[in-house]
Amino acid sequence: MPHEERPFFIIANWKMNKTIREALAYVEKLPELLQGVHLPVWLAVPFTAIHSVRAALPPEIHVGAQNMNDASSGAFTGEIAAAMITEAWGDFVVLGHSERRQFFHESDEFINKKVLRAFQSSLRPVLCIGEGFDQREAGETEAVLKGQLEGCLRGVSAEQMALCIIAYEPIWAIGTGKTATPELVAQTLAVIRSIAEAQFGEESAANMPIVYGGSVSPSSAEALATADGVDGFLIGTASLDPEGFAKIAHMSENVRSNITEL
Ligand code: 13P
Repeated sequence: MPHEERPFFIIANWKMNKTIREALAYVEKLPELLQGVHLPVWLAVPFTAIHSVRAALPPEIHVGAQNMNDASSGAFTGEIAAAMITEAWGDFVVLGHSERRQFFHESDEFINKKVLRAFQSSLRPVLCIGEGFDQREAGETEAVLKGQLEGCLRGVSAEQMALCIIAYEPIWAIGTGKTATPELVAQTLAVIRSIAEAQFGEESAANMPIVYGGSVSPSSAEALATADGVDGFLIGTASLDPEGFAKIAHMSENVRSNITEL
């Protein structure tokens, strides 16, 4: 599928922010702020808020989780299973975020089990990959991304692959205000797509959405939305404010409609 035919996703990752009350105050404003936006909008919210946020929003806005365990149930104190997310009406899950890898020591092998469980449970995975600053400086970006993609997607079929959203989030750009340039994003996404092509074949790789995350904000979104091959954004800090988040969605909508009209 050519780039302009793939949907452009606007995905919020609230991380560990917002109580149920705060989440509801946010989503009360959102549908009106998103009037005129036809791009898919997804919200990854804290577990506790999934059900209330889902119930408060129109069905076209997707709601999901930011993590889950690979086991279906059992003695894993403090963990959340896929069925708990689906029964709370979540329909996607962010997996392998660099904060999970860094602070909770999640390995590619563990993330791979979660990805397989997500597919089994009809949850669409948003798989995060990305290199650290030192790795980029040392010229290791491609090897790091290849290792993460191959490690996290072992056993995933080519059909499933087209449903997986890859989020390229360079660690040095997360929460730092240091956005990657559109050129760097375009270059790196091309690398990711070619790694996926070798693993899953041309068609699945061409259909696979790859979004960018890392200091996406109302001031950086417009330029980043033009980066070749980018299929959306995963937005942390700037998604916490509904006005700013909606602004990014509107900017992306404008950029994308110009690109598809060309
Ligand atoms: P920021 O947008 O705050 O840089 O966070 C990006 C991110 O980690 C989204 O998952």
